[in-house]
Amino acid sequence: MRRDNVMEVSLFLLALEITFIVVGDAVHPGCGCLVFSSTYGKDRGTFHSPDYPKAYSPGIDCLLYSFVAGPEQIIELTFVDFDVHKGQSDCARGDYVKIFIHLDSADVNEYTPWENLMCGRLTDISPVLYSSGPGLVLEFHSGHRKSNSSGFHGYFRFIDRRSFRIDGLKLTGTMCDYQFVSSEQSPTYGKFYSPRYPSTYPKNVRCSYRFNARFKERIRVVFEEISLQRGDLSCLNRADLIRIYDGKSSSDPSIGLFCNQGTELEVLSTGSDLYVEFVANSDRPGQGFKATFQFQMAEDHGATDSQRSSRLGSYSFATQVEPNVSETRSSCDLAISSDTSKNGTISSPLYPSPYPSKTTCRYEFQGRGKERVRIVFHDFNLYQSPEDVKEKECDNQDSLVAFVHIDGRMDKLDSFCGGSLPKPVMSNGPRLKLEFQSLFASRYSRGFNATYSFTENFGISSGTQLPEYPCAFVLNSNETKSGYFHSPNYPGFYPRDTECHYFFHGNLKEKVHLHFTYFDVEGVLPCEAISASDYVEFSNFMARDRKYARHCGQLKEFDVESDRKFFRVTFRSNDRLDGTGFNATYHFMDEVEVFTQQPSTDAAVCRPGAAASCLGLALVVLAIKLST
Ligand SMILES: *[C@@H]1O[C@H](CO)[C@@H](O)[C@H](O)[C@H]1NC(C)=O
Ligand SMILES: *[C@@H]1O[C@H](CO)[C@@H](O)[C@H](O)[C@H]1NC(C)=O
Ligand SMILES: *[C@@H]1O[C@H](CO)[C@@H](O)[C@H](O)[C@H]1NC(C)=O
Ligand SMILES: *[C@@H]1O[C@H](CO)[C@@H](O)[C@H](O)[C@H]1NC(C)=O
Ligand SMILES: *[C@@H]1O[C@H](CO)[C@@H](O)[C@H](O)[C@H]1NC(C)=O
Ligand SMILES: *[C@@H]1O[C@H](CO)[C@@H](O)[C@H](O)[C@H]1NC(C)=O
Repeated sequence: MRRDNVMEVSLFLLALEITFIVVGDAVHPGCGCLVFSSTYGKDRGTFHSPDYPKAYSPGIDCLLYSFVAGPEQIIELTFVDFDVHKGQSDCARGDYVKIFIHLDSADVNEYTPWENLMCGRLTDISPVLYSSGPGLVLEFHSGHRKSNSSGFHGYFRFIDRRSFRIDGLKLTGTMCDYQFVSSEQSPTYGKFYSPRYPSTYPKNVRCSYRFNARFKERIRVVFEEISLQRGDLSCLNRADLIRIYDGKSSSDPSIGLFCNQGTELEVLSTGSDLYVEFVANSDRPGQGFKATFQFQMAEDHGATDSQRSSRLGSYSFATQVEPNVSETRSSCDLAISSDTSKNGTISSPLYPSPYPSKTTCRYEFQGRGKERVRIVFHDFNLYQSPEDVKEKECDNQDSLVAFVHIDGRMDKLDSFCGGSLPKPVMSNGPRLKLEFQSLFASRYSRGFNATYSFTENFGISSGTQLPEYPCAFVLNSNETKSGYFHSPNYPGFYPRDTECHYFFHGNLKEKVHLHFTYFDVEGVLPCEAISASDYVEFSNFMARDRKYARHCGQLKEFDVESDRKFFRVTFRSNDRLDGTGFNATYHFMDEVEVFTQQPSTDAAVCRPGAAASCLGLALVVLAIKLST
């Protein structure tokens, strides 16, 4: 403590032990002010509300916590506990902590724009705050009514802002447009961030990040952390977005569209250009994103040498030699790149003859752009001992396991064993890995045969795909009056982290009628982020339409109808658990044509344990009734 700086302190401050205190009259007349400018050699310092952990007193008109960092530093605040009495509905009417995080110095007055008011409990706030410059101020205010709230307590740390420097060239005269050019001199990888990261980004910004690789190079970008807005709204209805285009500009095909939050999302360019755009127009800016980029040779997919050589020819399996685990591994491992072939077949060793025992083969697929890897099985026959037949998982038996890249690691998607034909498998990004493992084998087990493809249409062949979204299809009445459409990779599990739109365009005086024949979308009503639900949403507009409830769960057949000629169906999956999606028919008809409801949909027959689904169905039936 530097006592020489402690001057006169008002009564409630006396109970505090803090770095040092001044009564600020220059800064904000009438405010008490605590200044934190050093951690005195420690990793971090602490701060807390008056009397913490006892309840703070009422009538604290304004108490400023000013954090002052060095010129090349920013401040990180972490609230460990937070309990500030919340008035009716909004913080301004009760006790609050007002935060100022975008300051040039730690000076504020009543005209300084502030970022946010915080009140309530720790779960109501963002517990970690970052300043964008060397100053950060918290203003604490308690009203005249005594509450039992204990206030707050937390840590602060000064961090070097240079660790968030963007490894690109900022274009002169722009606020946040950067260029990244691959050359002999420049490093082949680096980092880039949203403006002011790790602090919140400004309102109403548009930033561009242009990547130019050299001939035969491509660009891999991994968004390690995305935090724009909370919740799981469709990106169609978000004002803060990251768009990724597979080329030089926004007129090139979109291969990624991110909103809300996410981690470890990866994109790989098809050619030597990639264009990333960040737009933020919401009222409540989030933290933004941090990302890495890498220029890599088109042929280099991170595969090992043995994999690369095996990519060229078809593998040979040494039949005459006794299986030698380490040898058979490398002889049947296969790395398949979409540069070499867009489709083909893979099969177990020696197929259709029985496969050898004690063999592990890995099949690694690497696509690019918006390509997803899709595997369709034609034959599947692995050895299974009679005791294993009842096992749900394929542990300790001959199996084929599919892995996808989720949150930075290869995550098991599904495993297959026994003799039933697996449904199609699709990756959530440009990569997929299959691992075939035989422990036993038998002279009657043929193994498997499958075709793979690198597909850009998500396995959806109805309508016309739009280049401006990663996954969007237009179904136009002019082209087909009726047909069917389904979820990505149907009837297999839909991929994770995927949003697909189906836009129906009727002619004047037409509307569209949808009949869902199959529906299995992982989630529980009301299909929201809190239950980590995937969902299907309906709308008469591009914006949200409160007329229709979100749909998820396992539902019996149901019908949905548009009000007018335009209709939108949006499917969105998160990074957890999967379902097999939906299949539905559509039919454009004249507005006057009244649809006669099938009795089975009205009766809402439900399976046991599907009570939640019934409610969803009842809502749809109700919606249809109201609309007719
Ligand atoms: C505050 O807490 C005490 C003890 O926990 C309790 O007796 C009292 O009723 C509380 N007062 C208010 C206003 O909640
Ligand atoms: C099996 O692999 C080991 C180690 O790689 C090698 O030393 C041995 O010769 C191999 N055996 C056969 C039969 O190929
Ligand atoms: C497989 O790829 C070839 C060209 O590479 C193409 O002509 C053929 O239509 C594709 N087959 C399927 C089933 O996609
Ligand atoms: C595997 O299945 C494909 C498609 O049905 C077929 O064309 C191919 O000949 C099969 N491969 C073998 C080795 O039987
Ligand atoms: C359908 O075709 C008509 C005539 O060709 C055209 O005027 C109309 O715009 C088209 N409607 C849509 C939705 O494309
Ligand atoms: C989806 O439904 C349509 C129409 O009922 C049907 O023709 C089609 O075979 C179904 N698709 C699948 C993969 O079952």
